[in-house]
Amino acid sequence: AKPLNVLKKLDVNDLEIDDGTKKVTVFFGTQTGTAEGFAKAMVDEAKVRYEKTTFQVVDLDEYVGEDDDEYQHKLKKEKIVFFFMATYGDGEPTDNAARFYKWFSEGEERGKWLQRLHYGVFGLGNRQYEHFNKVAMVVDDLISKEGGKRLVPVGLGDDDQCIEDDFTAWKELVWPELDQLLLDESATPSTPYTAVVPEYRVVFYGSDDHPHLDRNWSLTNGNIVHDVHHPCRSNVAIRKELHSSASDRSCTHLEFDISGTGLMYETGDHVGVYSENSTETVEEAERLLGYSPDTLFSIHSDNEDGTPLGGSLPQPFPSPCTLRTAITRYSDLLNSPKKSALMALASHASNPSEAQRLRHLASPFGKEEYSQWIVANQRSLLEVMAEFPSAKPPLGIFFAAIAPRLQPRYYSISSSSKMAPSRIHVTCALVYEQTKTGRIHKGICSTWMKNSASLNDNGQCSWAPIFVRQSNFKLPTDPSVPIIMIGPGTGLAPFRGFLQERLALKESGIELGKAILLFGCRNRKMDFIYKEELNNFIEGGSLSEMIVAFSREGSVKEYVQHKLEQNASEIWNLISQGAYLYVCGDAKGMAKDVHRVLHKVVQGQGSMNSSKAELFVKTLQMDGRYLRDVW
Ligand code: 2AM
Repeated sequence: AKPLNVLKKLDVNDLEIDDGTKKVTVFFGTQTGTAEGFAKAMVDEAKVRYEKTTFQVVDLDEYVGEDDDEYQHKLKKEKIVFFFMATYGDGEPTDNAARFYKWFSEGEERGKWLQRLHYGVFGLGNRQYEHFNKVAMVVDDLISKEGGKRLVPVGLGDDDQCIEDDFTAWKELVWPELDQLLLDESATPSTPYTAVVPEYRVVFYGSDDHPHLDRNWSLTNGNIVHDVHHPCRSNVAIRKELHSSASDRSCTHLEFDISGTGLMYETGDHVGVYSENSTETVEEAERLLGYSPDTLFSIHSDNEDGTPLGGSLPQPFPSPCTLRTAITRYSDLLNSPKKSALMALASHASNPSEAQRLRHLASPFGKEEYSQWIVANQRSLLEVMAEFPSAKPPLGIFFAAIAPRLQPRYYSISSSSKMAPSRIHVTCALVYEQTKTGRIHKGICSTWMKNSASLNDNGQCSWAPIFVRQSNFKLPTDPSVPIIMIGPGTGLAPFRGFLQERLALKESGIELGKAILLFGCRNRKMDFIYKEELNNFIEGGSLSEMIVAFSREGSVKEYVQHKLEQNASEIWNLISQGAYLYVCGDAKGMAKDVHRVLHKVVQGQGSMNSSKAELFVKTLQMDGRYLRDVW
């Protein structure tokens, strides 16, 4: 037998690409930027460790052009790859990874060619969800099944705890493997790596300068395609409260006017909304930073000569702008700070004991304290900054390393494009809760929506940059197929769109199949949203039957899943007739419970054993007849 090291050597030589160098490609599937940040951070470190190797960080959607066949063509040339894959909602990939994931997991193109690939996968997920890190596990598993060489076990990052720690731990497993593949025998072990704090170049403007301001969102209306990177400025045409005054909660109905914007949607799609921080939040941030809100500046990710700055810098936001705008529109200040943000704060804390405590919280020794004092208490970035008043970071560091970019919020569109082609309706419950530190956490977008102003006589109104995200949550193409809709609370949103759509179809003389709605709320006098409309849908023949679970009326809590069980035989009949089943709403509680009860219904009504019932439900899912829009 050949000695092991000879085998290794051959293997290693095989890793060179055409020009004789070695290359590592790091792919990311990111929604809010965390996966992208990890991919970049890993490459920053790797570049220091392996000077002779070329590293590339690649957005999965930008890896190939329009043609999916290019995936195989390009991947065949790769030798060492890493994937950072986030999982969302109902076990779905991120938008930018959706095309690759579909091609790779469903297509026939995987094969022996994958045997030449050395690879590692790090997943970003949340253990509270049913499909924890599904996307990462599927990718890891499929490559391995084809004989790809797995360098490290798949990393299962858990956002419910400290995902940064999971990433760090996984990264430490990667280096020894890459040492073997990338370092010459003569190479000296690299010196310990310390992460550089990313920092934008900042240019300040004086009060006499008049740079072109507010080119931020308004100009994007000229775009033909609107997406997460090119949202479209849309006015709030209508806003109203859906709960009665007896309710201690709030739910907003909002209509964005999209006439003349080029924005289009289909019934069942999602709308992404970029909102603003409240004045209260913005003023607190300005105070803590110690800059005037009118400070005018621009941020740049390159040097003056145009060469890129190092470090894992996020895309800069549109500038020049005032500090007020930068904080209001682009900064996430209410989530807990990451450990890397604490390190960045520490390096700008003038009080040494504050700096030391910040470093401790970010270090492995402070792990327990970080998870208690920050994560469990939902301590926001602003609360943390208030505890360390001597930490006054410069703006270039604050926006690059401390305050993450404010992300768009997604909502299931609650209108039908047939009924309201120039309006996007949103149904949004207010997030308002007290955290353990006594802070009232007000959801950024839901608060903005609640307080937004609709078009008045002076033509004044609130507006937001928005875009449409397509979804698979669609009515059957044949309107005579029966449907079962399960959606408590704001889970009703897409079904309101469905029912509007069916009403429009009905009015144009089309025959409709049966439609049953299982809705849930606390009390008919408080939060039975769209009650009149739903009754009108029944009258108009768009909805056949509405079954409502009231959770806080009687002495026992009734939820939609209880109603599902009580109506098992009717539901089973419809399913047997080919009905589509839709579930919308909370993924962690409701959708899980409904899923469990559905098994029970199938098992009981279909006289199947547990594994047969499971297969039955899986098949429904695979056939696209059991669809979930959950969050
Ligand atoms: P609750 O607030 O009384 O617990 C819409 O928010 C409705 O969904 C409310 O009636 C709410 O009841 C209910 N709900 C809460 N948790 C649920 C779960 N796990 N499954 C189904 N419905 C739930």
